Amino acid sequence: MNTRKTLCVNREGHLEIGGCDCTALAKTFGTPLYVFDEDYIRGMMKIYRDTIAGEYGDGLVLYASKAFACEAMYAIAKQEKIGADVVSGGELYTAMQAGFPAKDICMHGNNKLPREIDYALDCGVGLLVVDNPAEADYLDRACGERGMVQDVLLRINPGVEAHTHKFVQTATPDSKFGFSVQSGAAAEMVGHILPKKHLRLRGFHCHIGSQIFEKQSFCLAAEKCLAFAADMKKEYGFEADTLNLGGGFGIWYTDEDEKFTAEGYADYLRALIGAVKEGCAKYGLKQPRLMIEPGRSVVGEAGITLYTVGAIKDIPGIRKYVAVDGGMFDNPRFCLYGSKYTALLANRADERPTELVSVAGKCCESGDLIGVGMNLPEAHTGDILAVLSTGAYNYSMASNYNRNFIPPAVLVKDGKADYIVKPQSYADLVRNDVVPERLK
Ligand SMILES: Cc1ncc(COP(=O)(O)O)c(C=O)c1O
Repeated sequence: MNTRKTLCVNREGHLEIGGCDCTALAKTFGTPLYVFDEDYIRGMMKIYRDTIAGEYGDGLVLYASKAFACEAMYAIAKQEKIGADVVSGGELYTAMQAGFPAKDICMHGNNKLPREIDYALDCGVGLLVVDNPAEADYLDRACGERGMVQDVLLRINPGVEAHTHKFVQTATPDSKFGFSVQSGAAAEMVGHILPKKHLRLRGFHCHIGSQIFEKQSFCLAAEKCLAFAADMKKEYGFEADTLNLGGGFGIWYTDEDEKFTAEGYADYLRALIGAVKEGCAKYGLKQPRLMIEPGRSVVGEAGITLYTVGAIKDIPGIRKYVAVDGGMFDNPRFCLYGSKYTALLANRADERPTELVSVAGKCCESGDLIGVGMNLPEAHTGDILAVLSTGAYNYSMASNYNRNFIPPAVLVKDGKADYIVKPQSYADLVRNDVVPERLK
């Protein structure tokens, strides 16, 4: 298991997170339950913020809120004096509800809706990342109507191959995101944006993918973005003053993954900073304002999910299913990507694993699994199963499939646990249902 001060096995042999015994959390709040370790989240935000400030200077860390968005997360990001990236009107609304400063928000999206763009302009977001020509045209018109000029970045695709699942690679030639540098589409878009009276192009954005461990991929992407920036200086006399290199740092899910401490992530960032400085020197560019957008690495390992073990089905010679009270509706990542996780029994966390089992959910779907080949002590009905590293892309990808409840989330710190997402009720599930008169 991947332990730390705030995630450990206590004297009772129970899993403890943020000073809270997981069996007590399960009893108080019920299961399934998302649990988030506040110290871990703040620690990661701080290490990124301080590394940029200390080793680069002008920059901004943007928490990629798609990893886990709720008002409390924006409140923490605001207290830690970092910005946020949002990818929808809904994320932006959540940030606004939390009193997050709009000027520190960067909005992305390959197909932002006109109403989302309008909302972003009305909120006063600091940066919009242009991802298609029609969007640039719409944005220019909408800014004109408001008598304003909007700072924008252009999303470019530097064509760097990142070794990760194909669904989370974003800079391949056939990506739906950004404009290819190689094909000339990115340069053409610079020419499309620059004459627009109500848009101020500040620079470029790229994001090569997620759950990436090789520093070289990030550094290569930085180098390619700067080479492109230099070309744009030559071609249009345009000098970028902002470079946003996206997120994507990998985290530990199982022992097949590397495990980084906060200092290890600072090293990633130092490598990236080094590549930016070198690139600027090589191409004779002024050092731009540097942005990064980590999501998974901020919140992924901070989160765990607690379940109660229900049915156990041993199919001799085939496999043993340990079913829990959650499933693909709270964590669809196994179904989407075959993602691997580490699980343990929170109430017997000091026991050695003895068997490989498939942890199944409760949905009416054969593929509804949290994982296969999960190494556990023999589980019994009523045990509390903890799945680790579920803080990112679990709650944010959750659904009410089969009309199950999206689990609540609690934030833990120094032995105290508070709801940050309340439980749903049956009434919530039918809140938007309407039965037309003719069906009554
Ligand atoms: C544009 C952009 N920025 C940042 C992120 C965050 O990536 P990660 O959570 O891997 O750090 C993503 C994730 O897909 C993204 O698409």
